[in-house]
Amino acid sequence: MATPIILDCDPGTDDAFALFLALASPELDVRAITVAGGNVGLDRTLANALALTRLTGSNVPVYRGADRPLLGAFFNEPRVHGVDGLGGITLPDGGQPEHELAADAIRRILRTAAEPVTLVGIAPVSNLALALMTEPSLTSNIDQIVLMSGAWAEGNATPAAEFNALNDPEALAVLLACGRPVVFATLELTAQALVTPTRLAVLRGRGTGRCLAAACDIQATVPLSRRVPGSPLHDPCAIAWLLRPSLFTTRACSAKVDLAPGIGRGRTVIDRWNRTGDPLNAVVLETLDADGFFELLGERLALLR
Ligand code: RIB
Ligand code: CA
Repeated sequence: MATPIILDCDPGTDDAFALFLALASPELDVRAITVAGGNVGLDRTLANALALTRLTGSNVPVYRGADRPLLGAFFNEPRVHGVDGLGGITLPDGGQPEHELAADAIRRILRTAAEPVTLVGIAPVSNLALALMTEPSLTSNIDQIVLMSGAWAEGNATPAAEFNALNDPEALAVLLACGRPVVFATLELTAQALVTPTRLAVLRGRGTGRCLAAACDIQATVPLSRRVPGSPLHDPCAIAWLLRPSLFTTRACSAKVDLAPGIGRGRTVIDRWNRTGDPLNAVVLETLDADGFFELLGERLALLR
């Protein structure tokens, strides 16, 4: 049986790979694609999600979500994703979203699903938190929450905080307190999924479809990281966990997020050595078989038209 998932995203160059990987994989039953602002404004992330979804030929419904965090406003990252969110790569128009809003769709799907649903968050998790805050009983129908979020050490948005976590730390705190396990693909994990020119060339050669070509064209616009020798492919790591967990090693631990204003805001405090003795509310993906990951990515994206 395919695993039912809701994919919450902010496309986003790396979100594009995650979305394609999810839609190309028969192991996953993508019930909804919900969109938040983040990498760029919601008007662009929503249009990008619609265009990417339609490019695959998928009929998975796309829902408009939060254009701001629970508190304050999103800050964007056009230096990485371009002002349009896809590095300036133009795709055919993707049509219109569903009328239903993201948080309402998430609640409806959780409320009516015949089996527990996995929530995948690869954006600021405002939509997921809004859904659970307005109907907390729905957590009983969540299998697991898988997030590309956080870091146990250095951030990428500030020295302390990773971009998704910093963009809505209160929303992340809601998920960490909801009683369901949160699986983290942190920056330390995604730093092992490094796109290099060689890997990108190999990926591009895996197929002739327009989705694979578009993903590679988009990725080719991403500047190399200053933190690691390449370009970390963050978001598809969360999807790969669901498809091939054998590519990863994991560690159960307690995780919190710093909500205080100031230099530490948005920092994920991940207790890898159980120094606090606090409840183990998280699983951190610690290592990745990078070659296996890129093999999976190429194998699946080559299936798309
Ligand atoms: O820190 C990386 C995360 O922030 C990724 O999800 C990327 O798409 C951005 O949203
Ligand atoms: Ca993202």
